[in-house]
Amino acid sequence: MEHRITLRVDGTERSVTVDSRTTLLDALRERLGVTSPKKGCDHGQCGSCTVLLEGRRQLACLTFAVAHDGDRVVTAQGLGEVRGDGGLHPVQRAFIEQDGFQCGYCTPGQVCSAVGMLDEAEAGHPSHVTRDLMPPGAPDSPVPLDDEEIRERMSGNLCRCGAYVNIVAAVRQTVTASPGAS
Ligand code: FES
Ligand code: FES
Repeated sequence: MEHRITLRVDGTERSVTVDSRTTLLDALRERLGVTSPKKGCDHGQCGSCTVLLEGRRQLACLTFAVAHDGDRVVTAQGLGEVRGDGGLHPVQRAFIEQDGFQCGYCTPGQVCSAVGMLDEAEAGHPSHVTRDLMPPGAPDSPVPLDDEEIRERMSGNLCRCGAYVNIVAAVRQTVTASPGAS
């Protein structure tokens, strides 16, 4: 069954007709020509399709487009534009400065995931390695992001080459440079 939906993609309203079984990833890539999110596994295992959906990170291969009529989608390509200045997002700048950019397949998802996880930590969301679930000012106080937290929160984004060191450095630089800058 076909449905006409509207998505706000990287700040631009886009309408598209999709089958009810079309994933958000396929709607973006195949129907709208937005190729920043990549199809790595198409199975929720690699993170290369990560986008920000209504401000939270989402694996675009694991959700149906029809469920998101009217929603905001931000891809790695639009991170700068949706901040209003059209320039690079601080996370993208940190990836460049720390040599964290890798291949075109995993990097867009890594960048979106980093932006999303910084916001999650800033909002006080714990991860599996967060030791103190009731820090001062809980429940909404930011979770401090040490390397263990960064690795755990980025663990859904895989790189077959295993070159993660500079990604951790890039996220650490973003946290250090400007807490809450995501
Ligand atoms: S393509 Fe979506 S998680 Fe791999
Ligand atoms: S550099 Fe992209 S998968 Fe390793």
